[in-house]
Formats: sequence, C-alpha cells, structure tokens
Amino acid sequence: MKKTICLSAISLLLMGSRLVAQDAKNTVITINANEKVGDISPQFYGLMTEEINYAYDGGLYGELIRNRAFKDNAKAPEHWSLIKEGNADGQIALDSIEQRGTALDKNLRLDITSTDTKGKIGIVNDGFWGIPVWANTKYTASFYAKTNPEFKGNLTVTIESNDGKTVFASAVAKSVSGDWKKYTVTLTTRKIDTTSDARFVITAKNKGTIWFSLVSLFPPTYNNRPNGNRKDIMELLAGMHPGFLRFPGGNYLQSNKVETRFDWKKTLGDISQRPTHDNNSWHYNSSDGLGLMEFLGWCEDLKMEPLLAVFDGLTLNRKAKPITGDSLNIYIQEALDEIEFVNGNSATKWGAVRSKLGHPQPYNVKYIEVGNEDWFDRAKTWDARFAQFYDAIKAKYPNLSVISSAHVTSRTPDYEDIHHYFSYKQAAKLAHKYDSYQRTDAKVFEGEWACREGFPTTNLLGALGDAAFLTGLERNADIVKMSCFAPLFVNVNSGGMQWKSDLIGYNAVSSYGSPSYYMQKLFAENMGDMSVKSTITNVPIGADTTEQLFYSVTKDSKQGTLFVKVVNVSDAIQSSTIDINSSKILSSEGVETVLTAEKVTDTNSLIEPKKVVPVTSIAKGLGSHFTYSFKPYSITILKLEAKSN
Ligand code: AHR
Repeated sequence: MKKTICLSAISLLLMGSRLVAQDAKNTVITINANEKVGDISPQFYGLMTEEINYAYDGGLYGELIRNRAFKDNAKAPEHWSLIKEGNADGQIALDSIEQRGTALDKNLRLDITSTDTKGKIGIVNDGFWGIPVWANTKYTASFYAKTNPEFKGNLTVTIESNDGKTVFASAVAKSVSGDWKKYTVTLTTRKIDTTSDARFVITAKNKGTIWFSLVSLFPPTYNNRPNGNRKDIMELLAGMHPGFLRFPGGNYLQSNKVETRFDWKKTLGDISQRPTHDNNSWHYNSSDGLGLMEFLGWCEDLKMEPLLAVFDGLTLNRKAKPITGDSLNIYIQEALDEIEFVNGNSATKWGAVRSKLGHPQPYNVKYIEVGNEDWFDRAKTWDARFAQFYDAIKAKYPNLSVISSAHVTSRTPDYEDIHHYFSYKQAAKLAHKYDSYQRTDAKVFEGEWACREGFPTTNLLGALGDAAFLTGLERNADIVKMSCFAPLFVNVNSGGMQWKSDLIGYNAVSSYGSPSYYMQKLFAENMGDMSVKSTITNVPIGADTTEQLFYSVTKDSKQGTLFVKVVNVSDAIQSSTIDINSSKILSSEGVETVLTAEKVTDTNSLIEPKKVVPVTSIAKGLGSHFTYSFKPYSITILKLEAKSN
C-alpha cells in the first residue's frame, strides 16, 4: 500500500491520542447539522439474492439432500451411491417411472438381488458437502417409494458417519410396498459433537425392487417454517437489519434460454409439484425448493420489503435477439399474473391461487424490477421493451414503483438499478459518482455492488473499498434510495464459489460474516433518517494521487443524534478536525465504533469467524468542534448525541 504524503509529523508523534496538534494543511470535515440533504429511505440497505455459489441449495434453503429429485444429471444419479455390506447385493440406476399428480419424473431404482441378515443394502446421499449433524436435534426425513410385487418390508433411515461406524440418528419407515406413497420419519440425534462428516442412508433387508423419488431431509428451520431456511444464516441476515430483498436475480432470473428463466409458476406449492429447473446461469440444477412463496416468507421473517424482478425477454445469450413487440406479450402477462399472485385479493384469479396455497393475505409488494442488466441488450431493444412493461404495469397498478434494470429514455422509471463491481483502487472514484449526478432522473437503486477484494468472502481491503463507496451513497441520500451488496452468499467448500468476494460464507454446519458484512451491519445500525450537509477540506492524498479519507454524515432528526462515518484507506493515522454547526448542543461524550485489523488481507473464515469485527467504546472529547485521529485502514463511526435540554 502507498504511504500518505500529507500526514503531519506532529500528528504522527501523537498517534495514540485522539486530540492531536494540526499543521496548516489540517483536514476539516465541516457539518451543517441543520441542513438536510435528503431523507434516508428505510430501504437504504437491503439484500440482493439469487441461486449462485450454492446460495439456496447447499446454503440458505434448509434441504440437506443433494439432488433430491434426481434431476441434477440426466445420465447418472449424482450424489447418490449404493451401499452394500456382507453378502447383500444389488444395484442402483436412474429411472423414470411415472408418478401421477406430481411434477416428479425421475427416480432412483434399487434392485436388491441378495440379502444378508448380518449385512445391509441401500442408497446413500452425500449431501451438500456432507450432512450436518448437530446434537439433540430433530430431523424430518421423507421420501416417496414404490416397490415391485416381490418387495415388502421396512426401510431403515439413518444419518451416519461417512465410514459407517457411527449412527447419529436412526428411524424406520414401516411396511414399504405397493404403488407410490410418501413415507415420513423423524430422526433425533443425542449428545454428540457437531460434524459434517456424515451421510444419509436408507437400507433394506428384503429382496426386490424399490423406486425412490423426492428424498428429503430437513433440520429445524428459522421460525419453524415448513420447507424453510437455515437458522444460523437467517440470524446473520437479521443482524444486518435489511430493508428489502431483491430477488430472484441477477442472472438467475434470466438464464441462457427463455425456457430456463426463473419461471415463477413452476416454483409454487408442495415441493412434489416443482419440476426443478436448469440454473444454467450458474451451472447447476435448482431444486426450486426456495420458490416464489419462500422468497416472500423470507421477507416476512426479516420484515423486508420484497423487490420482485420479472423476466423481460432478455436472456444471457448475448447472441440471441431479445423477445420484442407482440412476442413479448406473453411475458408481460406472466409478470402481470405474478403481480396479481403476490398482491391480488382472493377474488382475483392468481390471488385465489396464493390463498389456496396458504397465504390469504396479499404480500403487498411495492417494488417491481423489469429484467436484469439490460445494458447488455446489444440489439438496442431495451427502450421499447421497458416501455411495454412499464405501461402495462402502471396501467393496472399505478401505485407500484417500477425499476428499470438499465438506463432508459422511453419512460422515466421510479428507480434505475445501477451495478458496480470494483477494485479497491476504483473505490475512490466511485465514492464521488453521485456528488455530481443528474438530479432530475429516476432515483438510484444500487442493486449490485461490491469491492472485489478477498475470496471466497471479502477481506478488510474489500470492506474499506465498500465503506468508501457507501459514504458516497449516504452523502447523496436525496437521489440514492436503495442499495445492496452482491453476491450475498457462498458455500466455501471446494467447488462452491463461482463468484469471488462474497458477503457471507458457510459450510454445512456453520457460517460467518465477512469484514464487509460487519461494515454494512454497522452502517445500517448507524443511519438516522436524513443525510446532512457536510464538506471536507484538505483531503489527504496518497502517493498514487487518490484520496485517503472518505466520509458521510447522517442524522436522527428526532433525537438529534449525528452519525459521522469516516473511512481511512491509508496505512497511516489520518487526523481531521470535525466542525459541527447544530441547533442542538452536542455532548462531549459519544460512542465510537472502529472496524480494522492488523493487515488489509485479514479476513474472517469458518475457523476464525470473528477475526475482523467492530469494536465499540465510549468516546470522550467530542462535541461541536474536535479533532480525531482515524486509525490506519479503518472504518470509524462516531455517534454524537445531542444533550437533552
Ligand atoms: O452478482 C453476480 C452477477 O453479477 C449477477 O447475477 C448479475 O446480475 C451480475 O452481472
């Protein structure tokens, strides 16, 4: 890293103290706490999500069986294997025995040709990089089975160690025989050490043939939702206080082919009704267990506004012409149906479907995004396509906010979704993007952004770049209304990461937040409801001619509390005078929270989940005029309280 060139010798000598002497080039942040720049939207910080990096299957979605519907590979039952002990013998194969009344068209056939009273034979699933085993936990296992006339008997269901020596939990599905039936058992672990070195097994003792389909295993979920989400990851998300959830993508919405777009109608109802789909944007099949209603349930659980993106005719196949004109009408109707599904009352066609599926209350979605990254439309059909969607949506639902996924001139959207992926070096420039941004256009939705430093999750350098960028968004809260980091999740096992520098990492049993996660949590917790006028003079400049200090100031208008955020991206202490003009008298005592680490490459991981976390303490010597020394490579939030009269 480059050394700063403007730090005074005096302030270097006094590195440890907050109040330092300043030279003529003293950096000053001047705050006019009485002058509002803009209201901070309650949706300022949210979440962006899609099925990438094993975000849902193998991540947030509670299902523990990998390839539960046998659709991951048309040629082989991936993640399934045969187990046989002693003289027991047989084989497994993919099959397609019809299962009427369901969307399940693939199954696993187990032919048992010989048995052994001392041995066993059956099927094994290796899970998403192992099956998580927690102590004193109840798991629900279920599967559909059909047998040939020869087979009749019990099936033993176990969660056991990969070497088969330890059975962590076991249950019996009794009298399995005949045509397709669903069998459900409960598996309960005892006091054991947490491990993911485990597998899921179903074994038999009799000869004959058994077909299995939709084999499922769930641990307890967040809020005990059936078909719900993993608890630890939901708790991390709740800690961020997200204002909205952008879903279902991202590229996951679009896919490479129209046929494999996120087709919301195929993600509804009991999981046996979901055909799954080829998530070719990110090269693995999606179970669609986390479907449209699960996204909305996730929003309800975390009290987030849903921000629903609809397919708009543009796929990821850059050579294919987007769907346009009259041919687009079926997708416009698909979007209108979806809006009716989420918002219509039970008297409407799609509202009635939702009601029948167990959610009579409309979800009251307020934000609809048209497509994803339509700036990739080389055929330049975007203006026309957006106009078609905008007009159709606004005609039926004038109160909905319609978001464009690229700049558009044919209509003025309520928000424009702008994406930024950047390096640490690019952060400095981006931090000023909105200072001189057109104020007459649509409001800004920073729908994907990330400083891509560190992997699988970001390191301190990434968090510094992110924080510098965010100060620019906060300073311009009059125009920037919503923002979300992407990608949100990564399964850190080998092969899990498809996109580097993600926010939250996990394996089967545990999860952690990156330094960027903690930075965002801090920013969201220290916001208030307005940004106020502030300026900086004598910004320290590094040898590479980039700025070293970034800042924003926001305020809680009811309490008079000021939140001063300062990001020092240099390797030296940076001191700044803070001058505040406020109608309220500010207390000399406040709260300081600092996120830093020894090295910029320091990060969090499964092994050291809290290596880089914020430290909060009481700060003295504050008030309306003070000087503060910002630690090297640090993100500092000063919370200045107004004295009560
Ligand atoms: O966040 C990863 C991908 O980046 C998103 O799917 C896409 O919208 C963007 O290009």
